[in-house]
Amino acid sequence: MVDVAVLISGGGTNLQALIDACAEDDFPANIKLVISNNPRAKGLERAKKAGISTKVINHRDYETREDFDDQIHEALNECGVKLICLAGFMRILDARFVNRWRNRMLNIHPSLLPSFKGLHTQERALEAGVRFTGCTVHFVNPELDDGPIITQAAIAINPDDTAETLATKVLEKEHIIYPQALKLVAEGRVRVVGNRVTIREADYANESIINPIPE
Ligand code: GRF
Repeated sequence: MVDVAVLISGGGTNLQALIDACAEDDFPANIKLVISNNPRAKGLERAKKAGISTKVINHRDYETREDFDDQIHEALNECGVKLICLAGFMRILDARFVNRWRNRMLNIHPSLLPSFKGLHTQERALEAGVRFTGCTVHFVNPELDDGPIITQAAIAINPDDTAETLATKVLEKEHIIYPQALKLVAEGRVRVVGNRVTIREADYANESIINPIPE
């Protein structure tokens, strides 16, 4: 069982998907701590309801990004987690922090990376006229929304889609692929070679490699 911390800033629907997955009998990860930089994040309530420890580390209380990151690092070390999941965590973490957690920190982003890094991804996908959008779970590199890709899910863009309808459809996929990616990593089946992730097949019978575009 791998202990995990989830870092949030807002609603926490991805956190909820991870909480629900971890509640399943054979899931290989356990959420030990939820940290929010935002004291009013709704995700904190979700964690409390599930009996998970929470901690607010408000970036406004720290003069520098490094001090804020150090505080998070200390909290993570104190509770002994091995992996971090960023789930709607809206602060950029500095390179020193990212390097300390390299290949042990996952993020979910609402686009098919490497396209549309940053904010307003669905608006930009519509503007660009791409036919598909989606979401990506990746290991975190010091560059924004960059790093080895673990899983992705794609959805087709219809002529009547808006940024809102796309965001809703993509979020549904996020809730599927984030637990899948965490499971793969926690099972030790994920290897990073350069910028590429390879996934080892499960040792046990009847489990196949994850479908990157879940039904
Ligand atoms: C998600 O779209 C995620 O991809 C992005 O921020 C949003 C967080 O949503 N990084 P929630 O807080 O998990 O509901």
